Amino acid sequence: MRRLDGRVALVSGAGNGLGRAVAKALATEGAHVHVAEIDPVAAARVADEIAAEGGAATGHAVDVTLGQDIIAVLRSVEVAHGKLDILVNNAGLNVRADFRHLSEADWSKVREVNLDGVVRFAREGFELLRRSGNASIVNVASILGDHGMRQLVAYSTTKGAVIALTKGLAVEYAGFGIRVNAICPGFIETALTARALKIPALSKALIDKTPMRRFGRPEEIAAAAVFLASDEASFVTGATLAVDGGMTAQL
Ligand SMILES: NC(=O)c1ccc[n+]([C@@H]2O[C@H](COP(=O)([O-])OP(=O)(O)OC[C@H]3O[C@@H](n4cnc5c(N)ncnc54)[C@H](O)[C@@H]3O)[C@@H](O)[C@H]2O)c1
Repeated sequence: MRRLDGRVALVSGAGNGLGRAVAKALATEGAHVHVAEIDPVAAARVADEIAAEGGAATGHAVDVTLGQDIIAVLRSVEVAHGKLDILVNNAGLNVRADFRHLSEADWSKVREVNLDGVVRFAREGFELLRRSGNASIVNVASILGDHGMRQLVAYSTTKGAVIALTKGLAVEYAGFGIRVNAICPGFIETALTARALKIPALSKALIDKTPMRRFGRPEEIAAAAVFLASDEASFVTGATLAVDGGMTAQL
């Protein structure tokens, strides 16, 4: 028996980076994974990669800022399985800008993907998750949800809201057999961080602030997601799990 045999999972933003690693890890543990990703080519590619490794996956073109896309993908999960056991809200982006110059359009863009998308999936997905009887929502927040960093105020604000949302939903959904937790990654090498982490001075400063003296790997976030999704975390809800090499533990 693998840890997630018979489970049905949906991972948003699973075409690349952390979401891709999470989708693959859930499938390796036996879940049927719905890869919900704005880039249809990436969605299909990850579903194919999972199938090539012997797993089960379905790719969907989903823009988490569009209510109709979210309803459509949940409808296809319902038709295929009648329930949803694991929802990983991972899609996210950032816009670097000094806060005083942040445009209304950029603020809306960050909020609509990082926060409104999570809100919609958690609300519209409720009925399918309830039918699971043993469901888990994993929200990918960030250590920047409760720490500041120059030019990332909008990003931090949305991630802080996701942490608050996680705790509120954990309380409200507990009676329906739905656990809700958040992962707060530190700095992990993906397309999102590639440019910043290639700036030698910034990269060195971040490593110097990380007790483990390295950046994280997507697989290390995926392992945390599998744990929170599995029965090993059966009494864990409303938690935020930092996966950051000790960065936020350090004064
Ligand atoms: N990489 C890090 O260091 C780090 C740290 C903390 C938190 N995070 C969070 O982890 C999550 C994944 O980040 P990543 O580093 O893998 O980024 P990434 O850019 O590598 O991947 C993000 C994925 O989300 C998809 N996406 C973007 N907008 C979307 C939308 N509207 N609808 C559906 N999909 C959409 C992208 O196409 C991409 O495939 C994000 O929520 C990010 O904020 C990342």
